Amino acid sequence: MAERRQSIHGEWSSRVAFILAATGSAVGLGNIWKFPYITGQYGGGAFVLVYLACIAVIGIPIMMAEVLIGRRGRQSPVNTMRTLAEEEGRNALWQYLGWAGVLSGFLILSFYSVVAGWAMAYVPRLASGMFNGASPDKVGTIFSDLISDPERLLAWHTLFMGLTMIVVSRGVRSGLEQAVRVLMPTLFLLLLVLVGYSLSTADFAGGVRFLFAPDFSKLSWEGVLVAMGHAFFTLSLGMGAIMVYGSYLPRHASIAKTTIIIAGADTLVALLAGLAIFPLVFSHGLAPAAGPGLIFQTLPIAFGQMWGGAFFGFLFFILLSFAAWTSAISLIEPIVAWLVENRGLTRIKATVLAGGITWTLGLGSLLSLNLWQDFKIIKWGILDFVDILTTNVMLPLGGLAIAVFAGWIMSRESTRDELAIRNPLLYGLWRFFVRYITPVAVVVVFLNAIGVIHIGKG
Ligand code: TRP
Repeated sequence: MAERRQSIHGEWSSRVAFILAATGSAVGLGNIWKFPYITGQYGGGAFVLVYLACIAVIGIPIMMAEVLIGRRGRQSPVNTMRTLAEEEGRNALWQYLGWAGVLSGFLILSFYSVVAGWAMAYVPRLASGMFNGASPDKVGTIFSDLISDPERLLAWHTLFMGLTMIVVSRGVRSGLEQAVRVLMPTLFLLLLVLVGYSLSTADFAGGVRFLFAPDFSKLSWEGVLVAMGHAFFTLSLGMGAIMVYGSYLPRHASIAKTTIIIAGADTLVALLAGLAIFPLVFSHGLAPAAGPGLIFQTLPIAFGQMWGGAFFGFLFFILLSFAAWTSAISLIEPIVAWLVENRGLTRIKATVLAGGITWTLGLGSLLSLNLWQDFKIIKWGILDFVDILTTNVMLPLGGLAIAVFAGWIMSRESTRDELAIRNPLLYGLWRFFVRYITPVAVVVVFLNAIGVIHIGKG
């Protein structure tokens, strides 16, 4: 292809800038809040193993597909999908995949912002020393007091959405890079400190065993679906976030290498979070399956007992809030880019519109924790329902469609040109995965989980 498209939104300054931004998107509440609590609910080791397999077999090939589609289209996911489909002589209906991603983005950010609000609310709580020497019971009460207070949650949800909108309205490229460069390594170091503390607790071995010794009798097909959904969630895949970041990627950068770095960093952070948390759970006789409150009910116990805990705890929740923030901006970037491209809005107006919709949707999740506690969809409150619907259904289906698009709709020439993998064997391997392995894996897990077919037990 002779002429290359340019993004009207500009480009990352370098490959490293893209890696930082995409890692900022990937590493977030998914790694530190969600991974430990679903691992606890679905029985530990076997679940972790399936999750790791999903990262390798489904996550990495799809991430490469999203980045390459984004860079080839150079526009918001909606327009990129339309342009590329037309270019390959296919149906422009593919743009609806972009729209499905926009919907997922709104829904995910609506509850993500509420949970990020919990993390922010813990910053002053840690700093005040209110956890010093606190018993597990007291720590639990502090958490339930927070989530049962709609006004406080509203203040934090609003603050978090406001901060997200500030970055998005300025364009995700300015400032993000510098911030991620410093804060991500600090978060990583703090996790190491926490793992170090966990090492000194009575039951470090118990925690390690829970995480890494697989007991397949505890694994159900539902657990497999959740592990797969989480692989999408934690790598920010299946809705266009990585695609839109890929659309700002400079031409020469290697997609395969960057993808592996991003997925590796993301996985490492999740495993460290697990190693920090589970020894505490077992040492204090807490329930690993405590659910969404798990980190908020366990980590403060450690901070309340360790030397300098108020300070480390304060820093930890600042960094967690920051990690959530760099993830949140990638969730509304696809729609903001589209509003700028197709509706001619300024970035500021586009952000206010998209942020306003998300904030409003978030009220449902927020109230489901307190005033609307008794309102259930099927059997879940709004927050859980939206989380389950997006993570376990919408993202895997979106990812499946992306794999089909990259493997079957785009020609071999287009994808090979864009990936620029010199080794033909490696290119062939990727193509084999997105054409066969990845789609089949997603479909098999899906059908088993909803009980249409039955392979094995569960
Ligand atoms: N990956 C982020 C996390 O683990 C969340 C996130 C950001 C996300 N962008 C996304 C999830 C896009 C799904 C799709 O916290």
